Amino acid sequence: MTDQTTDLERSGVTDKSSDAPATAPATAFASATPAEHELIVRDRRFDRTAMVPRHWHSGDPVATAWYNSVSASLPRGEAFFIDTLRDFREGLPPKLAREVKAFTTQEINHTREHVAFNRLVSDHGYNVESIDQGIQAMLELTEGRPKEFNLAITIALEHFAAIISRQPLAKPEYLDGADPVAADIWRWHATEEIEHKGLVYDIWLHATRDWSAWKRYKTRALVAALITKKYFGNRIRDAIGLLEQDGFTHKQAKRKLYAFLWWKPGMMRRMFFEWATILTPGFHPWKHDDRALIGKTESPYSDAVMPAE
Ligand SMILES: [Fe+2]
Ligand SMILES: [Fe+2]
Repeated sequence: MTDQTTDLERSGVTDKSSDAPATAPATAFASATPAEHELIVRDRRFDRTAMVPRHWHSGDPVATAWYNSVSASLPRGEAFFIDTLRDFREGLPPKLAREVKAFTTQEINHTREHVAFNRLVSDHGYNVESIDQGIQAMLELTEGRPKEFNLAITIALEHFAAIISRQPLAKPEYLDGADPVAADIWRWHATEEIEHKGLVYDIWLHATRDWSAWKRYKTRALVAALITKKYFGNRIRDAIGLLEQDGFTHKQAKRKLYAFLWWKPGMMRRMFFEWATILTPGFHPWKHDDRALIGKTESPYSDAVMPAE
């Protein structure tokens, strides 16, 4: 990260002086979010007493380790997103202001449920605290940076969240054999991640409306590439760490995890090109309209919004 942030500094992205008025024509605030799209808070509380087994995903330690690694990273990451948006509340158009409130409540609820889920993982003897500390260390590197830098990080991680969330909703077999309570948590979370996927980007468009198109593109694309690489690399590292706690050697764990992610079922292989859209100049999360997936959850509220495919 140190080398990467140095790269950013060299590029001028994190230099506060680069926030001076842009010389190129400003890009207007134009969002691809569907005008009628609204965020709905589904305040779900999952059964804390349910016996989620140690290898809750189909008895497979590898699949379980991957999801557990992601889950352990969420509470601190989502708190960072909420804190970041707090800095941009002033002067928002009414629809965005309303959505920031809904987004914040959604993320608070996700955190609450994942804290409970992580406790179950921990009760099975896994050390997940070190994963949380790793996220904290990564986010500490953002301290003192321009608030737009943190917003660009949030765009990148919310994009990753939306793309990874799309997978189990579009292909329910990704959760085949998973413990029903655990699978329900992931589907619920995935639904709301898709639903609010455009908000942070819209805040960005509004907050940087006086920037040149080039500065906007350069900042968000560079930050997206670097932070996603860092975050994804750490998810792999931590999943391998969890597998080592299951008794696998580092080499075995790495081989099995890579096969799971890139080959069978190969979620990362499938989502790579979807993720890479963030590097294109005309990117907006809602240029891929997957609202139909929102209706696939069991919530009566979401069913009312969008019928299932
Ligand atoms: Fe979330
Ligand atoms: Fe989110």
